[in-house]
Amino acid sequence: MVSRDTIALSGPSITRGEERAVAAVLRSRRLALGPRVAEFERKLARYTGVRHGVAVSSGTAALHLVVRALGIGPGDEVVTTPFSFVASSNCLLYEGAMPVFCDVEPDTFNIDPAAVAAAITPRTRAILAVDVFGHPADWPALRRIARRHGLALVEDSCEALGAALGRRRCGSFGDAAVFAFYPNKQLTTGEGGMIVTNRARLAGLCRSMANQGRRERSGSWLEHVRLGFNYRMSELNAALGLAQFARISTILVRRARVARWYGQELSGIPGIELPRVRPRVRMSWFVYVVRLGPDAPARACVLAGLRSRGIECSDYFRPIHLQPCYRERFGFKPGDFPVAEAVGARTVALPFHAGLGRAEVRRVADALRVALIGPHRGGRTTAGAAGRAGRQRKKRETDSRRPEDGRRRSNGGVQ
Ligand SMILES: Cc1ncc(COP(=O)(O)O)c(C=O)c1O
Repeated sequence: MVSRDTIALSGPSITRGEERAVAAVLRSRRLALGPRVAEFERKLARYTGVRHGVAVSSGTAALHLVVRALGIGPGDEVVTTPFSFVASSNCLLYEGAMPVFCDVEPDTFNIDPAAVAAAITPRTRAILAVDVFGHPADWPALRRIARRHGLALVEDSCEALGAALGRRRCGSFGDAAVFAFYPNKQLTTGEGGMIVTNRARLAGLCRSMANQGRRERSGSWLEHVRLGFNYRMSELNAALGLAQFARISTILVRRARVARWYGQELSGIPGIELPRVRPRVRMSWFVYVVRLGPDAPARACVLAGLRSRGIECSDYFRPIHLQPCYRERFGFKPGDFPVAEAVGARTVALPFHAGLGRAEVRRVADALRVALIGPHRGGRTTAGAAGRAGRQRKKRETDSRRPEDGRRRSNGGVQ
């Protein structure tokens, strides 16, 4: 349970519109395989700038279907990033293919096209890149490489709905792209995902496989023409998605405003680097992640310091190749992808969602300043909701730069 004084790491933006939309589905009694899923697919595909959308039960399911529909399987290699949520690589393992990781760019944390080009072998079938934290990958460069080598290009845009490079939205660069709609995403359906593509056959295959391998259009409910899964999205989820979609520009503008406030409040705090956005990029802010500089206190102390002041925070991403299951299976070790590892070791994700107010952003910034440089030098008197709790806590605080102090608080203060 999040206390009143705690600032949550993320949260969906839900209005009466969403409540009404879901209630209408319940009243209709048509809870699955109905018109809302189809409408959600059409709208999201058009928004992205492609012809087909296939709604499914999660971003992971969407990735799995795309990999399978592309015919990627045992013996195939797919060049991908180690700096991502684990699903962008697991989807390859589901089909027996081998993820070939290559390192990322230090400013955007996205896969480095030069490293991609160097990783291609005769067994490479595809490039699967991720728009990390809502910043578009370098799709023009990745497309050139894919074309030169005759490879499929898959966009994992799970974190980047609405992001654009020039005038083109993420999700429109590759053979297929996927979005995810978990509650921390820009648009949520509770759980859900979507495949978007211009390739009609690929869309049809994904639709069939998501529906137990039934024929895409006509056909008997009990006839299964290929191996399939139940990866369908329900009408309840789609109705929520449609209500969210109707407000997507407002949600994205609000998230961008929160990011701007963070930029203003955090600039000038020594010891951190703020997120960087490249020219021609329209960022779709998924999270707000700062990077600790080399002289900052240990990250565990910073996280513990924030949590002790009621600020939820996290340390994503831990690079995929260093996840225990990948180390055990493939023998990856520290040092394999130094940029991803250096970034992954220094990130601090701060509370971020469309409903965050300026005062809360200020409170997070104050807490971060104290966690970084101590209450005496960094502390600024906070007002409002945090004031009372903060003042009581401050009495107990000593200099948070001392690692032993951070450890003590992390034992006592983390939920
Ligand atoms: C980059 C990326 N890929 C894939 C996924 C998987 O999406 P889901 O959680 O809906 O399965 C996520 C979800 O957070 C993600 O961030």
